Amino acid sequence: MTMPDAQLTEETIFTWGAPPLKFGAGASDEIGFDLAQHDVRRVLVITDPGIARTGIAHRIADALHRYDLTAEIFDGVHVEPTDDSFTKAVGYATEQGPWDAFVAVGGGSAIDTAKAVNLLTSHPGELMDYVNKPVGLAKPPPGQLKPLVAVPTTAGTGSESTAMCILDVLSMKVKTGISHWRLRPTLAVVDPLLTTSMPPEVTASTGMDVVCHALESYTARDYRTFARKKPEERVTYCGANPVSDLWCEKAMTLLASSFRKAVADGANDVDARMDMMMAATFAGMGFGNAGVHIPHANAYPIAGMVTDYVPAGYPPDEPMVPHGQSVSLTAPEAFRYTFPAAPDRHLRAAELLGPGAEKLDDPAEQLPSVLVDLMRDIGIPNGIGAVGFSESDVPDLVPGTMKQQRLLATCPREVGEQEIADILRKSVQNW
Ligand SMILES: NC(=O)c1ccc[n+]([C@@H]2O[C@H](COP(=O)([O-])OP(=O)(O)OC[C@H]3O[C@@H](n4cnc5c(N)ncnc54)[C@H](O)[C@@H]3O)[C@@H](O)[C@H]2O)c1
Repeated sequence: MTMPDAQLTEETIFTWGAPPLKFGAGASDEIGFDLAQHDVRRVLVITDPGIARTGIAHRIADALHRYDLTAEIFDGVHVEPTDDSFTKAVGYATEQGPWDAFVAVGGGSAIDTAKAVNLLTSHPGELMDYVNKPVGLAKPPPGQLKPLVAVPTTAGTGSESTAMCILDVLSMKVKTGISHWRLRPTLAVVDPLLTTSMPPEVTASTGMDVVCHALESYTARDYRTFARKKPEERVTYCGANPVSDLWCEKAMTLLASSFRKAVADGANDVDARMDMMMAATFAGMGFGNAGVHIPHANAYPIAGMVTDYVPAGYPPDEPMVPHGQSVSLTAPEAFRYTFPAAPDRHLRAAELLGPGAEKLDDPAEQLPSVLVDLMRDIGIPNGIGAVGFSESDVPDLVPGTMKQQRLLATCPREVGEQEIADILRKSVQNW
């Protein structure tokens, strides 16, 4: 092997990070012991009203009390958080604080809110100081945050292992995030038994987020094709790399065997719930480092510009396109577009996610076909048309996708306004 040349223009380095993990049935009962190791006394448990109603957050607080920790519950997380809801949660934590540590109990909404609360109660500044450019100033957190233990109750976002949190900026009708390695939870406590109460529609949507994390990371641009960075320029998403690939491949295998079962009988099929939680964790370890591309970039305007679609299984009376639905609706068409950039990877992904699927004459159709079969079986809406958009909305959606340059940079094929418009138009109906 030759030594890397300081003049090299192509990247030779990738990075990979994840928090320590405690995984398995009953893992959440041990959380008191785990937090007590961090020399903390006063802990705020952050959750949403739906999870609070299941009793999960109270069980976690009791597990903390058993180790003489003081635990209080904030159950005001907004499902799919916004700048307003982050600010309210930070306001509550500041008024009732100080806290020595935080425990997030819930899906991505609760975990992301807890990351923002941790950041903004550990350091001075306004939310927009830290939000990604161009919406915010993208300032790095000035120092260490407090311990945050993430306890996911959905098999979905992988937020328990990622270094970002996502929010809807209401005034701008745009979804964006804060992304910095300091946001990564201190510990992920992943207990599949917490997911048995998830309604089938939430299981389907959050599981599609896992599918897209694995597929987009696996087909992301290779880390070696980026321009070489200085150490201080390195970003969390570094492109497909051998370590992320492993996690993504394993996630796809688990999804293939258990996703349909978890949707059909998730209250009883604990084995399927175990596999789905493992898949979500693995995909989080993949995409949280490699990155995602077109389907996730399109999800931002699809979710941000919803008008009156109210999904079953989610809080009533509030129009929203749940994150997992919004990422999957353009996925079949996106992978048709990216196929020529990495045919082998698309075919391998189709094989892992749909073992035994009929071999099609056109190889570019294999992955979209496996995806569409899965989406139909688990009740995902049929395209962006089914959540309230038509072809005439496409010109309004495109700028929202193009703002996600951080994600589009990871796309394995050059993509501009024309291509995104084409993908959105062809995704009005997927089957
Ligand atoms: N930070 C990241 O890395 C990352 C990655 C992907 C998505 N996200 C964000 O995460 C959010 C979506 O999170 P999500 O898909 O996990 O869902 P969620 O947290 O929004 O929860 C969805 C619904 O399911 C309910 N629910 C959750 N777990 C339950 C359980 N065990 N039993 C009964 N009901 C339950 C909740 O009360 C809520 O009504 C979005 O805001 C998305 O942008 C973050």
